[in-house]
Amino acid sequence: MYNTIFITGTPCTGKTTVSELLASKLNCRLIKINDLAIENDFVLGIDDEKGYKVIDIPALNEKVSQIISDNDGLIIFEGHLAHLCSGADKVIVLRVRPEILLSRLEGRNYSESKIRENLEAEAMGVCTGEAYEIYGESISEIDVSDLSVDEVVDEIAGIVSGEKTFSFGEIDFMDWLISNP
Ligand SMILES: Nc1ncnc2c1ncn2[C@@H]1O[C@H](COP(=O)(O)OP(=O)(O)OP(=O)(O)O)[C@@H](O)[C@H]1O
Ligand SMILES: [Mg+2]
Repeated sequence: MYNTIFITGTPCTGKTTVSELLASKLNCRLIKINDLAIENDFVLGIDDEKGYKVIDIPALNEKVSQIISDNDGLIIFEGHLAHLCSGADKVIVLRVRPEILLSRLEGRNYSESKIRENLEAEAMGVCTGEAYEIYGESISEIDVSDLSVDEVVDEIAGIVSGEKTFSFGEIDFMDWLISNP
């Protein structure tokens, strides 16, 4: 049984959708890292070139640590910056095959370059790599490409209760980069 779960992954891998359902199923607290950063004024500015918000990670990390130490019971943090913060018992990285992620990203009003950047990050497993640097072996990757939201929720609930284990480093989407240079 884990108490502090971080759910991370490239944009559009389903973190928010899955976490909301999971938190209501497990009747636990859910912290959306993006909202936390905005509410607490951790936005340092907007990246001129890429258009995304630049977040004060040390300040975010401190806030996350404070919430964890004040918390009692199961708590889930979700967001693509979650794994850059410390304090998780388990970091779960949602992975989606780039060709599927593309159709989801196209549904957002992202620029071509932002879509490409996210697809490359997913192909290269950037979130997993960053999470591994901080957390080592306490990370789990789930390939959710062919799973419904309910199935993803069930898999994560299984990890939380200790019934299921997922390792990391086995998901390889690099072939997408080779076919889409
Ligand atoms: N397992 C799934 N199968 C099909 N569609 C999904 C699945 N999970 C999420 N989606 C859809 O993908 C889109 C992105 O989901 P969501 O907003 O939860 O992603 P996110 O990882 O929170 O993205 P961001 O990092 O930008 O906040 C939504 O339209 C959602 O309905
Ligand atoms: Mg989200």
